[in-house]
Amino acid sequence: MSEISQAQPDYNYKVVRQFTVMTIIWGIIGMTVGVLLAAQLFAPALNFDLPWLTYSRLRPLHTNAVIFAFGGCALFATSYYIVQRTCQVRLFSDKLAAFTFWGWQVVILSAVVTLPLGITGGKEYAELEWPIDILIALVWVAYIINFFGTMVIRKTSHIYVANWFLGAFMLTVAVLHIGNSMAIPLSFTKSYSLYAGAVDAMMQWWYGHNAVGFFLTAGFLGMMYYFVPKQAGRPVYSYRLSIVHFWALISLYIWAGPHHLHYTALPDWTQSLGMVMSLILFVPSWGGMINGIMTLSGAWHKLRTDPVLRFLIVSLSFYGMSTFEGPMMSIKTVNALSHYTDWTVGHVHSGALGWVAMVSIGSVYHLIPVLFGQRGMYSTSLINVHFWLTTIGVVLYIVAMWISGVLQGLMWRAVNPDGTLTYSFVESLEASKPFYIVRFIGGVFIVVGMLIMAYNAYKTIRAPKESFGPEPEAQAA
Ligand code: HEM
Ligand code: HEM
Repeated sequence: MSEISQAQPDYNYKVVRQFTVMTIIWGIIGMTVGVLLAAQLFAPALNFDLPWLTYSRLRPLHTNAVIFAFGGCALFATSYYIVQRTCQVRLFSDKLAAFTFWGWQVVILSAVVTLPLGITGGKEYAELEWPIDILIALVWVAYIINFFGTMVIRKTSHIYVANWFLGAFMLTVAVLHIGNSMAIPLSFTKSYSLYAGAVDAMMQWWYGHNAVGFFLTAGFLGMMYYFVPKQAGRPVYSYRLSIVHFWALISLYIWAGPHHLHYTALPDWTQSLGMVMSLILFVPSWGGMINGIMTLSGAWHKLRTDPVLRFLIVSLSFYGMSTFEGPMMSIKTVNALSHYTDWTVGHVHSGALGWVAMVSIGSVYHLIPVLFGQRGMYSTSLINVHFWLTTIGVVLYIVAMWISGVLQGLMWRAVNPDGTLTYSFVESLEASKPFYIVRFIGGVFIVVGMLIMAYNAYKTIRAPKESFGPEPEAQAA
C-alpha cells in the first residue's frame, strides 16, 4: 500500500496519465476502423479481398476498440482520478494500478490480433476467447480492489456520488462478464458457451444490455457527476436527485435486457417485462440528464467561451436523446419496425458517440492540463474546432441512420395486394446507399477531430510546465 502524505495527498497521477493518453490513441484507432466499416458498406471492394479486412472481422474489432479500449481507458483514467481527488487520498495500491494498466493493454492488443484472425466466441460485445476472458476478469478484480480499497482508506467522511456510479459500474461489469463468458474450452482458441438456446440468448442480452447500462452509462455518469460541476465551477444541481437517480437507474437497468429479443423464442412475458422496465427507465435517465445540465444554472454564459464545457453539456443532450429513443424502441410494435434496421445503429451512435465519446473527450480535455502541469490546453481554438467537427459528425451520422433505418423498415414490410413483397432486399440496400455515404462523411469529421485533439494534447504535454492557461488550477477536489 502506498504512503500517504499528511499535508497534501501525493496522488498517483502516473496511471491516470497513462490511461488518458491511451484513451486518445485507442479512440483514433477504433473510430478509424469505424470509418473503414462505414466505407465498406457502400464500397465493399475496400476489404481488398483480404480475410482479415472483411467486414465481419473488422466489425467486432471496431466495437471492442471503441467500447473497451477507448471507453475503457477513459473510465480507468477518470475513475482513478476521481476516487483519489474526492477521497483526498492516494490510490490504495500503485502495483495494482500498474497491473490494471498493462493488463488492460494486453487485453486490447489480444483483441487487435485475434479478432481480425477470425478467432471469436461469437457473442456480441463478448467476442474474445476464453484465455483473454480470464485475463479480463483478473484485471477487473484488481481494479475493484484498488478502487474500493481507496474508498476504505479515504480522508473524507462521505462518499461523493460519482464514486457510487463508478463502484456500481465496476461491480456489475464483473458479474456480467464472468456470468456471460462461462464456456467450455475446446482448444486454446475455441470454446462453446455453457448455455444453450433461448437461455444463452437471455444470458447474452442480460449481459449486452447491461454492458450498455453499466459500462456505457453508469461509468460515464460517474464521469459526468465529477467533471460537469468541476468544469462549470458550480456544485451539482441537486445532490438529492443524484442519489434518487443512482438507485432508480441501477435497480431498473438490470431488467431491461429482453427488449433486444422481442418476437423471439424467449417467453412472451419476459419480453413484456423488459419493455415495461425500459419504458420506466426513461424517468431516471432524464433525471440524471436534467441534474447534469441544470448544474450550469447561473453559469450558462460559460458555454460561450468554454468548448470543454460545451462537449460535456452537448454529451448530456445526446444522452437525453438516446434515452428517450431507447424506451420508444423497446415498445414491441415500434421494435417490429426498427429491429434489424439502421435505426438501431443510429440509436447506438447517438449514445456511443454523442454521449460516451463526447463526455470522455470533454473530461480528457479537463484532465490533460492538470495531469501534465499546465493551467490549460495548448489551444482553445483547436478544442473549439474539435467540438464542431464532432457535433456535426455525430448529427450527420445519426440523422443518416434514422432515415435509412425507417426507410428499410418500411420497405421490408410493404406488401402488394396479392400478399407478395413490394421490394426485394437489394432494392432496400440501394435506397440506403446515399445515407451510408453521409454516415461515412460524418465519421471522417469525427476522426479528423480526434487527430486535432491528439495534436493539441501532444503540444500541451511537451511544453514546459505552466506554459498555457489563464488561472492557476484550484487544488481542492
Ligand atoms: C468515427 C466514429 C465512428 C464510426 C464512423 C462508426 C461506424 C460504425 C459502423 C459502420 C458500424 C457497423 C454498423 C452496421 O453493422 O450496420 C458500427 C457499429 C457499432 N459501433 Fe461505431 N462508429 C464510430 C464510433 C463509435 C464509438 C465511439 C462507439 C462506442 C463508444 C461505437 C460503438 C459501436 C457499436 C456498439 C456498434 C454495433 C451496433 C449494433 O450492433 O447495432 N462506435 N460503427
Ligand atoms: C433508457 C435507456 C435506453 C433504452 C431503454 C434502450 C433501448 C434499446 C433498444 C430497444 C434497442 C434495440 C434492440 C433491438 O431491436 O435489437 C437498443 C439497442 C442498443 N442500444 Fe439502447 N437504449 C437505451 C440507452 C442507450 C444508451 C445510452 C446507449 C449507449 C451509450 C445504448 C446503446 C445501445 C446499443 C449498443 C444497442 C445495440 C445492441 C445490438 O443490437 O448490438 N442504448 N437500445
